Amino acid sequence: MTTKELREKYFFFFQNKGHHLIDGASLIPQNDPTVLFTTAGMHPLVPYLLGEEHPAGKRLVNVQKCIRTGDIDEVGDDWHLTFFEMLGNWSLGDYFKATAIQQSFDFLTKELGIPPEKLAVSCFAGEPDNNIPKDEEAANIWRQTGIANERIVFLGREDNWWGPAGQTGPCGPDTEMFFWSSEAPVPQKFDPKDSRWVEIWNDVFMQYHKTAEGKYLELTQKNVDTGMGLERTVAVLNGKNSVYETEKLANIVSQVAALAGLAVIDLSPEQIKPVRIIADHLRAATFILAEKIGPSNVERGYVLRRLIRRAIRFGRQLGVNGFFTGKVAEIIIAEHGGFYKELRSNRDFIIEELNKEEEKFGKTLEKGLSKFDKMAKSDISGKDAFDLFATYGFPLEMTKDLAQEKGIKVDQDGFEEEFKKHQDISRQGAEKKFKGGLADQSEATTRLHTAAHLMLAALRQVLGDQVYQRGSNITAERLRFDFSYSEKMTAEQIKQVEAMVNEQINKKLPISCEEMTLEQAKQRGAMGIFESKYGDKVKVYTAGDFSKEICGGPHAGNTGELGHFKIVKEESSSAGVRRIKAILE
Ligand code: ALA
Repeated sequence: MTTKELREKYFFFFQNKGHHLIDGASLIPQNDPTVLFTTAGMHPLVPYLLGEEHPAGKRLVNVQKCIRTGDIDEVGDDWHLTFFEMLGNWSLGDYFKATAIQQSFDFLTKELGIPPEKLAVSCFAGEPDNNIPKDEEAANIWRQTGIANERIVFLGREDNWWGPAGQTGPCGPDTEMFFWSSEAPVPQKFDPKDSRWVEIWNDVFMQYHKTAEGKYLELTQKNVDTGMGLERTVAVLNGKNSVYETEKLANIVSQVAALAGLAVIDLSPEQIKPVRIIADHLRAATFILAEKIGPSNVERGYVLRRLIRRAIRFGRQLGVNGFFTGKVAEIIIAEHGGFYKELRSNRDFIIEELNKEEEKFGKTLEKGLSKFDKMAKSDISGKDAFDLFATYGFPLEMTKDLAQEKGIKVDQDGFEEEFKKHQDISRQGAEKKFKGGLADQSEATTRLHTAAHLMLAALRQVLGDQVYQRGSNITAERLRFDFSYSEKMTAEQIKQVEAMVNEQINKKLPISCEEMTLEQAKQRGAMGIFESKYGDKVKVYTAGDFSKEICGGPHAGNTGELGHFKIVKEESSSAGVRRIKAILE
C-alpha cells in the first residue's frame, strides 16, 4: 500500500462514518502558540476542543504535517522522523471511547486487513492522587473487540496521557495501538519495550480540563483526538522494517546515497544513519521553508538552521561534493509536491535559502572542523562547545555527532551554562544601553510589561483558554498585545478585563521570580512557549495566584506600582488574532 492509498482509505473510512474532511493546517501553529511547530493534528483544533463550534461539524478527519524535534537524537534509526504526516479523526463532543476504539479496531483489521493477533494496546494506568482512575473502560472495550488480555498493558503518564502542553487545557488518557512488525512468531504477552512492537496509532480521550491550580475537572464536552503515523503505518503494512523504506522516503534516501556515489544496497551500517538523517532533516527543512520561514538564530529559524547544518556536515562526511541540499530538496518537492502544493509554489524560495545557508556554513565548516580536531584530544568542555557554536556556527547536536564519532563526550551542561552566561552578558549590555539617559522610561516600560502579564491572565478568564499571546510590543507610553481570539471583544468584555487587572493592581500583589527547568515550569502551569531553547533554566514570574508566565523580565516588584490600567483600542490584527493597545494612567 502506498502513502497516497493509505491516506485515501483513511479519509474514505471516516467520511463514511460522518466525518467531514478538513484541510491540514500550516506547520506554524495557528491556535496554540505554546509550541513552535505544529506537532500533532490537535494543535490547530484547540479552540474547538474547548467548545468553540467548528464550521465543519462535530466529526472531523484530516492529515496533518507535523514537526517533532524532541527525539532528534533517535532520527536515523528505523522509526523516528522529525517531519511526518499524521492521520487523525476527531469527535468534538460527539462520540467517545466505545465508538472511537471500535472505529480504530475496524479500520485496522477490516480496512487494512491486519490480523487482530498482530495487535496490542496500552491504556492509562490511573493516578489516584489526581483522582483519575485506571482506564478499565478503554481496556474493556478492547477486550470486547477480541484483543486478548495479555495484549493489553496499563502504563503511566509518560506513555498514555496527552496534553496540555503545560498550562491549563483539555487533556486525558489515551490508548495506543501497536503492530507486531517482525517475521518471528507473535509473543503471547505484549511487552511495550520490545521494539518489534511498533506504535502506529493513538486515541486520546479528552475528558479532563486541567485548571491553573493543577486540578483535573471532568469536561462537559468530551472529545476524541486521534493520531496515526502515516509513514509508520505504510511501513508495517508493506512488511518493511523502517519508515525509511516506505516508497517516498526510500526514493529520497537512495538519491542522497547516489549523490555520495553510493548505492543503498551497499551502505554500511555506519553510512545508513547519516544518509537517513540527511533525508529526514532536509525533508523537514523543505517543509519549514515552504512556510516562508528562513534560517536564523532564533526560535523556528534556528530549528531550521540546525536541521540544515547537521545535514550539510553529514553530507561532507559522506564525501558529497559541492552544493547538494538544493538537489535533495528538488527530489523532496517532486515526491511530496503533488499533495503538498506549497512545496511547489515556494520552490524558488526553498532552493535559494538552502543555497544561501550552504554557502554561509561552508565558509566556517572547514575551519570549525579543524578547530574541533584540535579540541578533540580529550572530552569537549562546555566552553569549547560554545566556542564552536558562537564562532563557527556549529549547533550542539553537530558537535555531539562529531564527538560520538571520536568516542569522546561533550559537556552539555557546561555548554548550556556558557550559553546562559552569554545571554546574560548581552542582556546586561542591552539594559545598560537602555538606561543611558532613558531610566524613567525603562521603569514605565517595565510596569507596562507587568500589566501585559495581568492582562493575558484576565483575557483568558474572560474570553477562555483559547486565548494565547501571539506577540507584544511595549514602549514607555503603551503596550500593544496580540492574542489568539477570533471575534471582536464586546465593550462589556473590555470593561471586565480592565476591572480584573485593576483589581489585581489594587491588591498590591508582590511579583516573584523563580528560576526552574522548563519541565517544572510546565508542571506548575506557567504560560509561555515551551519548545526547547538552549539554556536549561527559565524564569517564571508570578503575581499572586493570578498570573504565572515564563518570561525573561524585568518586571515591577509589586502590582501596586502600576497605576490605573486602561484599554484604549481593541482591533483585528490578522485572521484569528486580535490586538489590544493599553496604557497605565
Ligand atoms: N494528539 C495525539 C498524538 O499526537 C493523538 O498522539
